[in-house]
Amino acid sequence: MKFSFAKPSLPASGVLAVTVAAERSLGPVGRELDQKTGGALARAMAAARFSGKKDETLSLLAPAGTDLDRVLLVGIGKAEDMGDLALQSAGGALAVALDKATDEASLLVELPEGAKLAAPAAAAEIAFGAQLRSYKFDKYRTNDRKADKKDPKPSLRRLTLLVEDEGAAKAAFKKLDTLADAIRFTRDLVSEPANVIYPESLAEKTRELEQFGVEVEILDQKKLKKIGMGALLGVSQGSAFEPRVVVMRWNGNPDAGDKRPVAFIGKGVTFDTGGISIKGAAGMEDMKWDMGGSATVIGTMYALAARKAKVNAIGIVGLVENMPSGTAQRPGDIVASLSGQTIEVINTDAEGRLVLADCLWYAQDVYKPKLMIDLATLTGAIITALGHEHAGLFSNNDDLAMNLTAAGLKVGQPVWRLPLGDAYDKEIESQAADMKNVGSGGGAGSIVGAQFLKRFVNDLPWAHIDIAGVAWSKKDAATVPKGATAFGVRLLDRFVADFHEE
Ligand code: BES
Ligand code: MN
Ligand code: ZN
Repeated sequence: MKFSFAKPSLPASGVLAVTVAAERSLGPVGRELDQKTGGALARAMAAARFSGKKDETLSLLAPAGTDLDRVLLVGIGKAEDMGDLALQSAGGALAVALDKATDEASLLVELPEGAKLAAPAAAAEIAFGAQLRSYKFDKYRTNDRKADKKDPKPSLRRLTLLVEDEGAAKAAFKKLDTLADAIRFTRDLVSEPANVIYPESLAEKTRELEQFGVEVEILDQKKLKKIGMGALLGVSQGSAFEPRVVVMRWNGNPDAGDKRPVAFIGKGVTFDTGGISIKGAAGMEDMKWDMGGSATVIGTMYALAARKAKVNAIGIVGLVENMPSGTAQRPGDIVASLSGQTIEVINTDAEGRLVLADCLWYAQDVYKPKLMIDLATLTGAIITALGHEHAGLFSNNDDLAMNLTAAGLKVGQPVWRLPLGDAYDKEIESQAADMKNVGSGGGAGSIVGAQFLKRFVNDLPWAHIDIAGVAWSKKDAATVPKGATAFGVRLLDRFVADFHEE
C-alpha cells in the first residue's frame, strides 16, 4: 500500500477515516465534520455503542450534509495507553475495515491531550500498522483475478494521512516502511511453497539484499563437503535438491572499536518430511515453513542494511530439504559435524539441530562474532509448552536473554526463557558417538534440542529462539494477518537498535 501525508482538513468527497479517542472524543476537525453532518457522527457512535476503544471501527455510509461516500470512525483508545504498539494495532483495524470497501481513503489523525506520542509519530505508527496488516499472499489465486476483471472488487491501495506537521510524519513513516518491506520479504519467502522455494532458489533470493550493500556468499554442496559440514549434508542427502549455506555480511560500522559482528543463524529446512523417520500426512504441508528461521535471518539482514544500521552483522542460513529416499540418511547413521564431534542420528526428523550445529560452528569459527543468536522452527514441543503466544528462548548469558526479552516486548514479539542444564545434556549421550540427536525419553524436547545446539557453541554469548509455535499463525492478529508472521524480524531489528548500535 502507498501512503502520503497532508495537513488536516476535511476532504469534500471520497472515503474519510477519523480517529476517535476513548469516550467518543473527536479532535477539532472531527468535531467540524460532526457539525456538518448535523451530529450524525455522535448519534451513530451512541447508537452503535461505539466508545472509541482501541481497534473499534464504525462505518457511516453517505452521511448527509457532505459528499463523502463513507466516514469510518477508528477507535484509538485512552491517551495514556496510546503507545506505538497500540497505534499500530489501530492502523491494522483501519486497514481491515477499509479493504474491499475502497481503493483509496484519507485518515484524519487527531490525538487527545496527553497522548504518549506526538501526532506525526502517531500517524506514522498507524500507517505502519495498516501496512503490516494489509499483507496478502495471493499471487497464485488466478481465478480471483479473472473474477476481478468482470466485477472488480476494491482493495485499499492508497491512504493519505491528514496530520499536523505532515513532513515529520512522512519522515517517521519512511523508516517504518523500510522495516515493513523487510517483513514482507520474509513473509513471502515463508509463504512460498516448497516447489518454488528450495535451497538453491532460496539462496538466490538472498542476492536481492545486495542492492542494500549486503555481501552475499553462497556455499554450494561441493564447498560444504570440502569444509566438512557432515551434519548438514547428512540431512540433505535424501533430497533431489542440493543444499546451500548462505553468508550475508552487513558492515555498517567499519570504524567500531570492537569490530566483531553480531551473528544471526537460521534454520532453513525448505521442506521437512521427517526423512526416513517420516512424519504423518496430516498437516505435513505446514512443513514448507520449516525454513522460517532462515527467512527471519534474511529479513533481519534486509532491515538492518536497508536502514543503514550502524552495526556489523552477519547472517548465516543453512538451507536443506529433508526427504526420505534411497539416498537418505538412516536412523542410526553416524555423521561427523564440522566441529569434529560425531553425532548418532537416532531420529532423522530431528534435523534442524543437525543443520544448525554446522552453521553455528562455522559462524563462530570463521567470523569470531561477539554473540550468536539462532532462530529455528526446531521443536513441536515448544508449542506444547508455550502455544502460539511466546517463542522459546534459551541462552547461556543472562544479559543477552534479558535484552532479547526486552526487545521482544517492545515490538509485540514476546519470548519466554526456558532453562538449560547438565541434567538435560545427559539425555543426548550416545554409546556409539559423541552424542545422539534426540533425548532418551526424559521429556523436555525443546530444552534437549537447545542443549544439543549448545554443544556447538564455545565460550561466547549465545541465544537460541525456538519459533516453531509463532512462525506461522492460523488466526489474524492486529498487525499480522494469518499465515507467515515473520516473527523475529522486528525483534532482532529492535535488539540491534537498542543494544548494538552506536
Ligand atoms: N520442524 C520440526 C518442528 C516443528 C513441528 C515445527 C511442528 C513446526 C511445527 C522439527 O524438525 C521436528 O520434526 N522436530 C521433532 C523433534 C523430535 C524428533 C525430537 C519434533 O518436534 O517432533
Ligand atoms: Mn523435523
Ligand atoms: Zn524441521
